[in-house]
Amino acid sequence: MNNNSIGVFDSGLGGLTAVKSIMELLPGENIVYFGDTGRLPYGTKTEETIKQYAAGDIRFLLSHNVKLIVIACGTASSVALSDMRNKFTTPIVGVVEAACEAAVKLTKNKKVGVLGTSATIKSESYLRGISEIDSGIKVYQKACPLFVPLVENGHFNTEVTRLVVKEYLEPIKNEGVDTLILGCTHYPLLEKAIAEYMGEEVRIVNVGAELAKSIGNILGKDNISDKTEGGICEYYVSDDEKGFAELGGVFLERKINGQVKKIDIEKY
Ligand code: DGL
Repeated sequence: MNNNSIGVFDSGLGGLTAVKSIMELLPGENIVYFGDTGRLPYGTKTEETIKQYAAGDIRFLLSHNVKLIVIACGTASSVALSDMRNKFTTPIVGVVEAACEAAVKLTKNKKVGVLGTSATIKSESYLRGISEIDSGIKVYQKACPLFVPLVENGHFNTEVTRLVVKEYLEPIKNEGVDTLILGCTHYPLLEKAIAEYMGEEVRIVNVGAELAKSIGNILGKDNISDKTEGGICEYYVSDDEKGFAELGGVFLERKINGQVKKIDIEKY
């Protein structure tokens, strides 16, 4: 048994999609969450910058003595995971692998769509992950750089969101994909608008939720908490703790006002 916290980070609100699932599946685990709201978005940055940010985020979480690092960010998982594993000794998991496994299981017509930030799509991480499991699957990728600002500004299902969704998703829909990976942890906050546009028959893969399903196994019985309920989550951001608390609370369906602390990430 190990009652240390699980450390989770993202560039902003998106990683809460993983936190929500961890809370549901492992309610006894304590979580330390860091949303790098001051340096968001990551998805438009260079590989070098994303790796530098990810290393600082991990050093911050390690200062809380966490037992596992969850990179709840499609971009940092795609670009920085293997470097981070070489740099730190604490176990680190990203969102790509579990999502690819889920998509391969779900697709019937072997046509999978992948949405992600520009950096994620450029890295081809999901494309590679799927081909390694089943090279017969056709993967259609699309970068959706406007999705993250829509989420961070609370446009979860407004008219402007539906317009942007149509603009980005039309080519993928026309290819007839039956499974769609939301390859950025921010995108499940737009799931309603995306699912409505794609139609009922298309299955949606939420990368944060898929990763959360495997965390129990990754921790194993030696590292799981001995509590089965009452886990707490501490929230840290690098800017605008109020805005984060407001939108994060809506998404998590629980009040987190007053629980979000601002830190200076440049120190880590
Ligand atoms: N939520 C992140 C991701 O999964 C980051 C989005 C961004 O900062 O660009 O890619």
